[in-house]
Amino acid sequence: MSDGEEKNKIRIEHSIAAGDYLKAGGASNDIKETLKMIGIPPNITRRAAIIAYEAEMNLVIHGGGGNIAANIDDKQIEIVTTDHGPGIPDVALALQEGYTTANDNARSMGFGAGMGLPNIKRNSDVFNIDSEVGKGTTLKAAIDITK
Ligand SMILES: Nc1ncnc2c1ncn2[C@@H]1O[C@H](COP(=O)(O)OP(=O)(O)O)[C@@H](O)[C@H]1O
Ligand SMILES: [Mg+2]
Repeated sequence: MSDGEEKNKIRIEHSIAAGDYLKAGGASNDIKETLKMIGIPPNITRRAAIIAYEAEMNLVIHGGGGNIAANIDDKQIEIVTTDHGPGIPDVALALQEGYTTANDNARSMGFGAGMGLPNIKRNSDVFNIDSEVGKGTTLKAAIDITK
């Protein structure tokens, strides 16, 4: 590819409302369907769909709503969520399997297994959480698609 020539890039972005369990999953479904449509291999699409779904649900349940984006190019699928919610006081603790602060309402709908962040991490090649209590959380997870 010559200098200055644009690579193939797709960006999908959705804003996510806090506590909207009816629409929840719509953004991650859009990301999954787009990856399928452009011919991303099933195993990579599956990993990206898990990351997107769990990250989207965390915006709904914990983050006070926010924004989810998927940035797709020839090298990677990057999923980024940003919110201005309560933040995560102890990220290492939040990453432990089974740890949850989900409220009764979320639990009554089957959420709050405390497996979301561990599953995101497991399915990512690059994973980072940047969180500040009282300010919000940014999560970045990327899958290498060149391998
Ligand atoms: N965007 C977020 N904002 C604030 N806290 C979060 C966010 N995402 C995750 N957390 C915290 O990390 C914990 C673990 O998240 P996760 O592994 O997805 O489990 P679950 O969603 O089932 O609680 C949550 O219970 C919550 O305390
Ligand atoms: Mg979760």
